[in-house]
Amino acid sequence: MRVLVTGGSGYIGAHICRLLVERGDEPIIVDDLANGVPERVAGLPLHEFDLSDPNAAGRLERLMTDEAVESVIHLAARKRAPESVQRPLWYHQQNQGALTSVIEGMLAAGVQNLVFSSSAAVYGDAAGTVNETSPTVPVNPYGETKLAGEWLAAAAALAHGLRVTSLRYFNVAGTGWPELADTAVLNLVPMVLDAIEHGRAPQIYGDDYATPDGTCVRDYVHVHALADAHLAVLDALPEQPLPHRVYNVGTGVGASVRDVVEGLRRRVPDALPPVTLPRRPGDPAAVVADVSSIAADLGWHARHTLDDILDSAVAARP
Ligand SMILES: NC(=O)c1ccc[n+]([C@@H]2O[C@H](COP(=O)([O-])OP(=O)(O)OC[C@H]3O[C@@H](n4cnc5c(N)ncnc54)[C@H](O)[C@@H]3O)[C@@H](O)[C@H]2O)c1
Repeated sequence: MRVLVTGGSGYIGAHICRLLVERGDEPIIVDDLANGVPERVAGLPLHEFDLSDPNAAGRLERLMTDEAVESVIHLAARKRAPESVQRPLWYHQQNQGALTSVIEGMLAAGVQNLVFSSSAAVYGDAAGTVNETSPTVPVNPYGETKLAGEWLAAAAALAHGLRVTSLRYFNVAGTGWPELADTAVLNLVPMVLDAIEHGRAPQIYGDDYATPDGTCVRDYVHVHALADAHLAVLDALPEQPLPHRVYNVGTGVGASVRDVVEGLRRRVPDALPPVTLPRRPGDPAAVVADVSSIAADLGWHARHTLDDILDSAVAARP
């Protein structure tokens, strides 16, 4: 199958492309390389342009037609939540603009199947175990663009006969192949590793939450498992009974910040003990995905454990 993968040279997209190639599919990538690394997808067709550009829909139509694309996985998005608070107009323009271009291009080229990268950020400050019908109250413009993206995708699917699945990723970490590792220092695992490597103490924000060890609990999903979920969705899309479906993608199991920090310290010699700082505003005590929908409908579940995530992240260090 020929699959257009937007954001394919990013961290998650490159894993999806690798799995597509492994099973004989042909990914075609669009990425503006603002955050992408072309070496991750060396040898694959890579078209470099900004999807939010006014002429992007036309370029996509030609590309999808020329390459006989059958399905699209749309990952490309600006994703720094704190930056989105500083630049809300740009985040909405970029992320909504890119998705609009993708859907316009699909309609013009007659492509019907779309997987959309959403995020647990749509749940905002929700606490506890959340399922797909839990309230969606994003707390920053980044999360808003994901929720608005789901709405746009759902409306376009209904109006134009598309089949769309939106995947709400939880905390993505680890690496399937060392050369595809997450190079940004934005999430807990890379932040702790970065501190350890630079001889700094890892930081824990708050240890007085109502959780077993007092630190925040999150649902960490291995990027390889997440990439697998996209393949399962891709295969199911042509027979999808509804125009738009939404799935949480996590493990259903929580791990605490201390679990992650101590797990990494055990794996890296001479790591300093963590320091505890005050809570950060807006951090809920515990958020874990209910993953029963994707398991029931598609038979997908995360095969990897937290140990697999930490082993792979440590092994990928330069
Ligand atoms: N990493 C996570 O923990 C996480 C969690 C939830 C959701 N997501 C979503 O998953 C997707 C992929 O995330 P990632 O971690 O691989 O990020 P990433 O930044 O590594 O990859 C995104 C890619 O998209 C490209 N891109 C962004 N905007 C573009 C545009 N307008 N035009 C063309 N290319 C553009 C970037 O250059 C980059 O290569 C994003 O939509 C993100 O919001 C990620």
